Amino acid sequence: MTRKVTANVYMTMDGRGVFPTYPGSDLPTGDPDEPDEFFRRMWTDRYDDVTTVVMGRRSFTGHERVHSLKGRKPKDPKFMFDYSRFLDRVEKVCLSRRLKKTDWENSRILQGDLGKIVTKLKSEKGGNIILEGGPRLVQEVIQRNLADDYWFLVMPVVYGRGPRYWGAMKDQTTLKLLSATPMKFGELVLHYEGVRGKPSSKRK
Ligand SMILES: NC(=O)c1ccc[n+]([C@@H]2O[C@H](COP(=O)([O-])OP(=O)(O)OC[C@H]3O[C@@H](n4cnc5c(N)ncnc54)[C@H](OP(=O)(O)O)[C@@H]3O)[C@@H](O)[C@H]2O)c1
Repeated sequence: MTRKVTANVYMTMDGRGVFPTYPGSDLPTGDPDEPDEFFRRMWTDRYDDVTTVVMGRRSFTGHERVHSLKGRKPKDPKFMFDYSRFLDRVEKVCLSRRLKKTDWENSRILQGDLGKIVTKLKSEKGGNIILEGGPRLVQEVIQRNLADDYWFLVMPVVYGRGPRYWGAMKDQTTLKLLSATPMKFGELVLHYEGVRGKPSSKRK
């Protein structure tokens, strides 16, 4: 079985990788112990098929600090503890030239050309793969069409600062929409797959 590669994107409408507050964002959306639509689609639904999560060094160290089981706070909802158990359990790939070792269990550090790293991971035994950012890494993934599909959480905010998902893109990237789900406070959960090869028609 080919290992599917999925990129997760969390952005404001102007493509910033931040988590701002906006009307409703600080309110629970139902049972506080149940994940909302975006979290379920990106994570909870995938615990059984994903065995590798890839992160750039800054995201990796941030996730270890906040989302590993040792970083969890007692008041955190149950589904976040499940998320931490999942993250601790899966293989984590940290991309870094600077970091030489990590104490986070089931982790390894790789460096080099991202296309070659993705090809190497796909050739290894395992389940599906999530590319979890940060924004610069995901930008390269989209630009080079390295993922099979993409989950976007688009937040209803034009933020104007913070890390960018979109910088100077060398070429067109075409995606095919698989699903679009509005959430309670105006967020959109979008699922796209990558379209490989040149687009067949041009806009006049
Ligand atoms: N999912 C998420 O984690 C997420 C989502 C939304 C927003 N954010 C925010 O985004 C920020 C972090 O994102 P970011 O894009 O700035 O950083 P990042 O992708 O997490 O980390 C960048 C680092 O990854 C390493 N790297 C990337 N590609 C590499 C390669 N091919 N080979 C070797 N090393 C490679 C380099 O580390 P070295 O310097 O060690 O070489 C680089 O400095 C944070 O502010 C975070 O809050 C994160």
